[in-house]
Amino acid sequence: MSHGGTLRGRGGTTPLRGRARLPGDKSIGHRAVIFAALSRGACHVTGLSGGEDNRATLAIFEALGVPVERAGVPGAEEARIEGVGLGGLRMPRQVLDCGNSGTTIRLLSGLLSGQRFGCRLVGDASLTRRPMGRVVFPLRARGAHIAGSAAPGDERSAGEGDEVYPPLGIAPLTEDETLTGLEYRLPVASAQVKSCLLLSGLYAAGPTALEEPVLSRDHTERMMLSLGLPLRTAGSAVVLDPAGAEGPLGWDGFDWHVPGDISGAAFPLVAALLRPGSEVVLEGVGVNPTRTGLLDQLRLMGLAVQAVPKGDGAGGEPVADIHAVGVSATQGRSSVLGGELLVRMIDEVPALCALAAGLPGRTEIRDAHELRVKESDRLAAMAAVLTAFGVPCTELEDGLVIEGGGPLRPATIASRGDHRIAMAAACLGLACPPGAGETVIEDAACIATSFPTFTALLGALGGDLRYDSAP
Ligand code: S3P
Repeated sequence: MSHGGTLRGRGGTTPLRGRARLPGDKSIGHRAVIFAALSRGACHVTGLSGGEDNRATLAIFEALGVPVERAGVPGAEEARIEGVGLGGLRMPRQVLDCGNSGTTIRLLSGLLSGQRFGCRLVGDASLTRRPMGRVVFPLRARGAHIAGSAAPGDERSAGEGDEVYPPLGIAPLTEDETLTGLEYRLPVASAQVKSCLLLSGLYAAGPTALEEPVLSRDHTERMMLSLGLPLRTAGSAVVLDPAGAEGPLGWDGFDWHVPGDISGAAFPLVAALLRPGSEVVLEGVGVNPTRTGLLDQLRLMGLAVQAVPKGDGAGGEPVADIHAVGVSATQGRSSVLGGELLVRMIDEVPALCALAAGLPGRTEIRDAHELRVKESDRLAAMAAVLTAFGVPCTELEDGLVIEGGGPLRPATIASRGDHRIAMAAACLGLACPPGAGETVIEDAACIATSFPTFTALLGALGGDLRYDSAP
């Protein structure tokens, strides 16, 4: 992950206006690259974010012997990928660096557990603090030789059943070993765990049957279905059964376009909603129903957002233009959010916190324990950000209570190396009164993990944000 970079912003009342195109969806981008690399042909993936997380996944496949040619600019990258087929990955000569990307390490740990070569997956300081037992233990249950490390700074090696962290070491399956079928109920809804296990299931001798407490984002399932893989879904349950395929598992090359990232769109949307009179259109955004919880929540809060359908993107992902109109400061409504809705907007909570701070009313976020193990502890981080901007809030074990609508004061914020915390703070900076002074976000270069065009895009809409120097 990029470090450093000081981002400065000023508030104002000038409406944000215009149309903008978001970088490609990070989750869909990772998966498009994975399925392209494993295909049996030439693939062209367009609309990639150019963010560091997606680039980490591409670089890992290059290290695994997959020919990749990249082009384009940050925000709209493309890759020509010569798929090597399910059996065509090669032993890497170096450790595989997942950078800051939880999706990369968790999805690839599944895929790489099915290989006849070993490898080591590492990450940056933030990733090294994120729990990996959720993938390591079920993978072991199906015969994978995968091990994690003890908590960073803990000298003891991880004991049986202890939580484990990166680096992850994977030893090869021997000639007479194969991964077995797996029936597994996920303790927590997680698309990363589900996708890890489905990808390992491509190499298993039996079916992979999974059930989540609530359906998490289903990009992997949609792509597998669109590629003709033997997958069945029912609610929050999914079964991949290699025996259901006609002949050996595999698929041909494809051309896919990655839709715009709804998790990134959340920030310009919130910035616009907090400036009365704003009118923005965010074009070509992915609106998979497992990802649109924020749009539903905004409507529940009585805000003017509309998604106008624009067809389909990569692997059967619905796409829309999102229209938003900024509200007058008297609008806003108290709400409690949790459960299924929270799962459908898990990455949008920092943006929602910024919005809730700027609108009158009380917002209570519950069932959000998982936010404590993202790129930072996002509940603690957002409580600190809100407090710094003068917003009354209470941190709960599983959420936050925010009393919005009071005066915002500019603040100096440490991003904690978390792109979504930095962007949420930038939105709050833009919502401060004109002439109130400058908001400073330290260590803001991490924004490039998912949204390399964030500052330029908000600037084009009329937001006053700038880096001290190029990050
Ligand atoms: C992701 C799943 C979510 C999300 C993350 C991306 C994915 O994580 O927070 O940013 O691409 O599968 P969990 O699976 O841990 O909920």
